[in-house]
Amino acid sequence: MAFFSCSRNAVVLQIITLFLITSAVVSGSNYFQDFDISWGEGRGKIVNNGELLTLSLDNYSGSGFQSKKEYLFGKIDMQLKLVPGNSAGTVTAFYLSSGGSDHDEIDFEFLGNLSGEPYTVHTNVYTQGKGEREQQFHLWFDPTHDFHTYSVLWNPQTIVFSVDSTPLRQFKNLEKIGVPFPKNKPMKLYSSIWNADEWATRGGLIKTDWAQAPFMASYRNFNADDACFFSYGSISAHCTSKEANTGPIWLSQKLGPNSEEKLKWVQRNYMIYNYCNDAKRFPQGFPPECYVN
Ligand SMILES: *[C@@H]1O[C@H](CO)[C@@H](O)[C@H](O)[C@H]1NC(C)=O
Ligand SMILES: *[C@@H]1O[C@H](CO)[C@@H](O)[C@H](O)[C@H]1NC(C)=O
Repeated sequence: MAFFSCSRNAVVLQIITLFLITSAVVSGSNYFQDFDISWGEGRGKIVNNGELLTLSLDNYSGSGFQSKKEYLFGKIDMQLKLVPGNSAGTVTAFYLSSGGSDHDEIDFEFLGNLSGEPYTVHTNVYTQGKGEREQQFHLWFDPTHDFHTYSVLWNPQTIVFSVDSTPLRQFKNLEKIGVPFPKNKPMKLYSSIWNADEWATRGGLIKTDWAQAPFMASYRNFNADDACFFSYGSISAHCTSKEANTGPIWLSQKLGPNSEEKLKWVQRNYMIYNYCNDAKRFPQGFPPECYVN
């Protein structure tokens, strides 16, 4: 079994102590317990006894929330229902970030569109302040019609972005060929909705229609049962796992053959942008990870 205890101050990942809290997993998330509404002056709301969170955007402001805990690896699921109707110009983001300078970040962003036109799911990974690793997708369903589960698996080997358990993207740890990988900085989970009509929809051609405001995104069933986290001033990361008897398998989990197949299917059929195919951006040659499958 692998365990992690990481000092908040140490920038280097250390495997020191055996420290597993096997929580008898209580299902059913509570947004009051796990998150703070961080901005938006009342436009973010936690309702239904903590079961549902809504964020809204109008012509004065967007809104956002952040996790109380800081994570250093985890398998994080969030169910989102995106802004329906004409959501052009709006961006709803769901991301992990260490904040500060030279930050690490794992991003999901949902770029709205005109009624009936597809949302764009934008993904990126930042290490030590450097991103430029965008991949974008359309979805195979209408993300505004119902809740769907958006997940990030982040462990020392890999980062996998998934939708309803179907992987969209994998960013492997390729430190051995010189690609920095986020693994030293604890991250909080953030979400927000804001106006980005200078660039979001068809490169900024389509503006937000404020007559449709407020624009609202909804969240439920947050799950981070499998995670290593810091909480309330703790100085070391505690790891938890749903698999009480076997230890945290998720910490070394990789995509199995079935998932690899699904990933290929998504990339073939729904990927609309890949930095690794954008030769204009990289006249000196693509980043090294682009040559690895
Ligand atoms: C915001 O929208 C409201 C309602 O449509 C409108 O009355 C108000 O003037 C707008 N405010 C700004 C700053 O555009
Ligand atoms: C909006 O719809 C257009 C037309 O289908 C599509 O090309 C575009 O990728 C969609 N998404 C955004 C964010 O513009």
